Amino acid sequence: MPKTFVQYSKVYDILYKDKDYDSECAFLRRIFKKYSRRPVNDVLDVACGTGNHILPLAKCGFSISAQDISCYMLKIAKYKAGKAKLNIKFSSGSRPMQDFRHDKKFDAVIAMFASVGYVTNHQDLKRAFVNIRNCLREGGVFTFDFWNKDAVKKYFLPHKEKVFIDGDSKVCRVSDTVLDNRNSLAKIKYLCTYFEGGKKKKAINELHRMKYYTQGELSQILEDSGFKVLDSFPFMRIGKIITGKDWNISIVATPKN
Ligand SMILES: C[S@@+](CC[C@H](N)C(=O)[O-])C[C@H]1O[C@@H](n2cnc3c(N)ncnc32)[C@H](O)[C@@H]1O
Repeated sequence: MPKTFVQYSKVYDILYKDKDYDSECAFLRRIFKKYSRRPVNDVLDVACGTGNHILPLAKCGFSISAQDISCYMLKIAKYKAGKAKLNIKFSSGSRPMQDFRHDKKFDAVIAMFASVGYVTNHQDLKRAFVNIRNCLREGGVFTFDFWNKDAVKKYFLPHKEKVFIDGDSKVCRVSDTVLDNRNSLAKIKYLCTYFEGGKKKKAINELHRMKYYTQGELSQILEDSGFKVLDSFPFMRIGKIITGKDWNISIVATPKN
């Protein structure tokens, strides 16, 4: 299996410079308030990436623990947390969500930006959900988003090109996607060319494999893993109905008694 988020980690924050992580954190706080049956203090991010949710959440006063399968992404998150003097408890190295346990319990667990889609095997996803359920306190919440099968099948673009600029850094990203609808798997070949001060620094080549689901399929896996699904809606739009046009679906679940 090719490794992801290795070289890609170097350009990740340039690619997503304009993603509105602050609004996403405000949305997470709304979820904690509306769906958790206990006050949310301890939060675990099981796919923290470069730390773009956990940093603002830690700044708001949440007690944050964080992990990720990519030690390259983790290293960047740790550096950013250190620079901001935030006391976040990071896993010491790579920690796949399908293969971890915590002695500590949490009030909320998050896995943002379709991170669960990277767990492409059904048994592994179930193991990930069981691990997450096992480290949640009673009444706590697990929330994440995932790619909506209906939208992916209808609206995916086989070829995309985009340029991202941050100061004197520039990334030209070409993505070629093939859908394996039998297995609900998107295979995305990213080719990024990274420039600094006008000079080409690096060519980055990674194959990402992303699983997509219907809301019903994913809810069933959650239920089979000991969760009760509390709600689902288009990403960030609590209370709205999911349509075939919504690429990302948010879901909120709580451990079954
Ligand atoms: C699209 S990024 C999202 C990162 C971060 N949550 C964000 O919103 O910016 C997906 C992340 O999932 C991580 N990931 C992929 N497979 C994983 C797994 N099996 N367990 C834990 N993390 C995983 C990747 O390393 C990457 O950091």
